[in-house]
Amino acid sequence: MIQSAPKLPRNCSFEPEDWQVLAKQWFPIAYSDEVIDKPLARTLLDEELIVYRTTDRQVVVARDLCIHRGVPLKLGWQEGDELVCAYHGFRYGADGRCTKVPALPDLKPPAKLCLMTYPSIEKYGLIWTQLIENSQANFPDWEELEDSEYRMMHFEPPEWECSPGRQLENFLDVVHFSWIHVGTFGNREAPEVADYEVQKNEGGLHIEYPYLAANPDHSQVVDGHKGDTVQRWMVYDVHLPFACRLVVDYGENRRHCIFDIAAPISRTETRIFFFIARNYDHQVSEEELLNWERKILAEDKPIVENQKPEELPLDLTEEFHLRCDKTSTMYRKALGKMGLGKTYTS
Ligand code: FES
Ligand SMILES: [Fe+2]
Repeated sequence: MIQSAPKLPRNCSFEPEDWQVLAKQWFPIAYSDEVIDKPLARTLLDEELIVYRTTDRQVVVARDLCIHRGVPLKLGWQEGDELVCAYHGFRYGADGRCTKVPALPDLKPPAKLCLMTYPSIEKYGLIWTQLIENSQANFPDWEELEDSEYRMMHFEPPEWECSPGRQLENFLDVVHFSWIHVGTFGNREAPEVADYEVQKNEGGLHIEYPYLAANPDHSQVVDGHKGDTVQRWMVYDVHLPFACRLVVDYGENRRHCIFDIAAPISRTETRIFFFIARNYDHQVSEEELLNWERKILAEDKPIVENQKPEELPLDLTEEFHLRCDKTSTMYRKALGKMGLGKTYTS
């Protein structure tokens, strides 16, 4: 329940129009297994939030601010279904309403004495929220995550010093494989980018792309092959604004799915929910597979964190776009169509 139209967060780093567009989208704020028995504080779109579970395992997402004297609830604690503020002990229930003011035991707390709470959905092993309630917002349809043939694995979500648009575009970029990923799967001998199509679909964009990956011995955990190179068929489904499922298809029904959701902490900080699901090689340990993905992300990080401007320029005249960059140009246009304005560029 939202008690009133949300104001922009204090010290909002976004242009107001862009914040309004993004606040109406679903973003994950935590993996389900990060919120077990105590509240977790996380920031989304510059809004400080607290997320916790009630005794019947329901998720509550609220603004992390006791409205009595402006103290964050993360300094307090949870008792049963209630949050207790550290400063004067006010208690707040799962609907956000204050249930007790210990200094005035006879007082029935007024309805207005209420935390701002937000809609939440728990799906795909993630806790999602919207800062402005919007029933029209699309939710991604990722069937692999509901299929018991697939093993889903994740690590703690990394935080990068970059905008979400830059991070997601890097995930979509097929041109960089043969350059910065030579330590993992990149093939310096095959830098050429074949012509490819970018199609629009309900959630955003669909791209299919072949890549002849280099395959050092240590990469056998990923592609199931030993040898110098292996042909991958890479299928991207972008879910606007900042999410994508990539299916890396190695043939013979061996699908390695990588999910990347760039959740904006602020205009230039991003929490990345990066996780995998695969339907083969279940004997390979989770740690081995996740280490491989960590290594690939570590190759991308210094590049993306150093891009200038930090925001993704939606004005296509600001950077150079070539035929091989078709995904990027289509992605930037699609973000513009969502209403992310010229102000989103620097
Ligand atoms: S500031 Fe939270 S109870 Fe007073
Ligand atoms: Fe990359």
